[in-house]
Amino acid sequence: MLRVDKLSHSFSNGPEITPVLSNIDFNVNKGDMVALLGSSGSGKSTLLNLMAGLMKPTEGNIFIAGHNIVKMSENQLAEFRRKHIGFIFQAYELISNLTVRENIELPLIFQSVSSSERKKKAMSLLEQVGIPDKGLMFPSQLSGGQQQRVSIARSLITEPSIIFADEPTGNLDTKTEEEIIAILKRLNREMNTTFMIVTHEREVAVHTKRIITLKDGNLVQEIPQTPSTNEILVEEGVTT
Ligand SMILES: Nc1ncnc2c1ncn2[C@@H]1O[C@H](COP(=O)(O)OP(=O)(O)O)[C@@H](O)[C@H]1O
Ligand SMILES: [Mg+2]
Repeated sequence: MLRVDKLSHSFSNGPEITPVLSNIDFNVNKGDMVALLGSSGSGKSTLLNLMAGLMKPTEGNIFIAGHNIVKMSENQLAEFRRKHIGFIFQAYELISNLTVRENIELPLIFQSVSSSERKKKAMSLLEQVGIPDKGLMFPSQLSGGQQQRVSIARSLITEPSIIFADEPTGNLDTKTEEEIIAILKRLNREMNTTFMIVTHEREVAVHTKRIITLKDGNLVQEIPQTPSTNEILVEEGVTT
């Protein structure tokens, strides 16, 4: 589903070059739910933005559903992103003057999907994320947790190959965070959606099947999750 191949990235600001990611290699299978951990500044968002095709790496390749997104032109990439990649932001990024349902339908407006079909899909997703009665409201009328549910529904409407989430619970209280993680887990299980979730919290990570940890731009640790690994991590009180 996803293959990251010898990926390196540096930001250049005039003569100043900041290396951020160094020779990152890993695979994600269809239906996996992977947590990407690391302290602030370790390069998590940079890696996620590269994998989502929001910028090009300095070196290396990224394959999604067999296509190398690094080699695509801007136009090819824009179309590929619309069809294959979903993104969930920490700050929801909903459009304030569109209703909840219109926000969810938005990714389909660029594809030739009829308005009745769009509506049907949006209503079904609203149900999936547990807010079936909020379709006609505006984002500002919803709580943070509800807005993140809308953003999750929006990311799913194109049935993407993979969904990237950058600290999706970073702005939420603990109880709401647990609800959002439960929704992501259920979608992963029931719809077999592939998720890669950036977090700096070990508690979120113990819910996922796999943990990848970045330290100073290097992949330092990869733990395939099994129930027993979860228990060990919890018992040892491992934190980041
Ligand atoms: N556009 C940019 N220009 C220069 N440096 C950047 C840019 N974006 C991020 N960085 C630097 O890259 C490093 C990793 O940032 P980031 O990927 O946002 O880390 P994380 O999401 O793990 O907190 C940081 O040192 C940050 O300052
Ligand atoms: Mg970040």
